[in-house]
Amino acid sequence: MNLGLAGKAAIVTGGSRGVGRACAASLLREGARVMISARDTTRLEATRAALGEQTGGEVRAIAADLARDVDAKALIDATLKAFGHLDILVNSAATVIPADFVSLTEERWAGIFEQKLNGYVRCLRYAIPPMRARRWGRIINISGVAAREGGSRTIPVGLNNAAVLNLTKSLAWALAPDNILVNAVVPHIIDTDRQDETMRAIADLTGRPEAEIRKERVAELPLGRMGRPEEVGDVVAFLASERTSFVTGAAWHVDGGAAHGI
Ligand SMILES: NC(=O)c1ccc[n+]([C@@H]2O[C@H](COP(=O)([O-])OP(=O)(O)OC[C@H]3O[C@@H](n4cnc5c(N)ncnc54)[C@H](OP(=O)(O)O)[C@@H]3O)[C@@H](O)[C@H]2O)c1
Repeated sequence: MNLGLAGKAAIVTGGSRGVGRACAASLLREGARVMISARDTTRLEATRAALGEQTGGEVRAIAADLARDVDAKALIDATLKAFGHLDILVNSAATVIPADFVSLTEERWAGIFEQKLNGYVRCLRYAIPPMRARRWGRIINISGVAAREGGSRTIPVGLNNAAVLNLTKSLAWALAPDNILVNAVVPHIIDTDRQDETMRAIADLTGRPEAEIRKERVAELPLGRMGRPEEVGDVVAFLASERTSFVTGAAWHVDGGAAHGI
């Protein structure tokens, strides 16, 4: 199947590692030109070089802290300058990990959406106008299974992911007249640094050994193993492609069957 991604210009936030890096790799393998961004410049540059070597694609990088509106704007401006236009935005950057609700102070609670949602919103604010101008766009927001399922420790994670799903659906309606398609991908237990942090956080919160938590969480998955970042990346590339031209406002699970509802 030809995905029709050759020459498309894409941004992947959080592209220096984990799911974002895999999304960038999948898009590059299909011939898209990709701008990756993250805060840590050393890791970002190492990933840029590695992705270029592994895929032979045109990959660029710019450091951005998406807690800052000015950085989000600079990311989109730099992409437009480098590639001439913008076709695809993959929102993946986040720092959200489980926490105990009662111990969330007023200050941490007030900042809860800074861990994920607000960075997505900042990128959307600046990415939509250039897509609108060309009447073509694909936006893929990475959410997570905690969006749909309650959990005793997943309130910060779940609230961010649920807000991302709602935003995705609303933007799908709002941007359909501009031929900009907006979808979410819903991963769960993907083998990344953040997943390691999640396992450690749950171990700390419960006072149980991390190895035990890991074994238990993986055993709960119908497929019985962690997901690989590239298994998310390939679904994202498909959703970004010409082959999904009648798909918008959808949430695609890449969760090993974990979600109880459909
Ligand atoms: N892994 C899973 O099992 C899983 C499950 C459900 C949902 N998800 C979602 O999938 C997405 C990616 O998760 P992941 O597991 O790949 O995480 P990860 O391994 O921790 O990678 C996160 C990426 O985001 C960047 N980032 C974080 N905060 C940023 C900020 N303020 N500004 C700019 N960049 C920032 C990080 O780079 P720097 O630190 O250098 O900035 C890194 O590149 C997230 O939205 C996450 O919620 C993951």
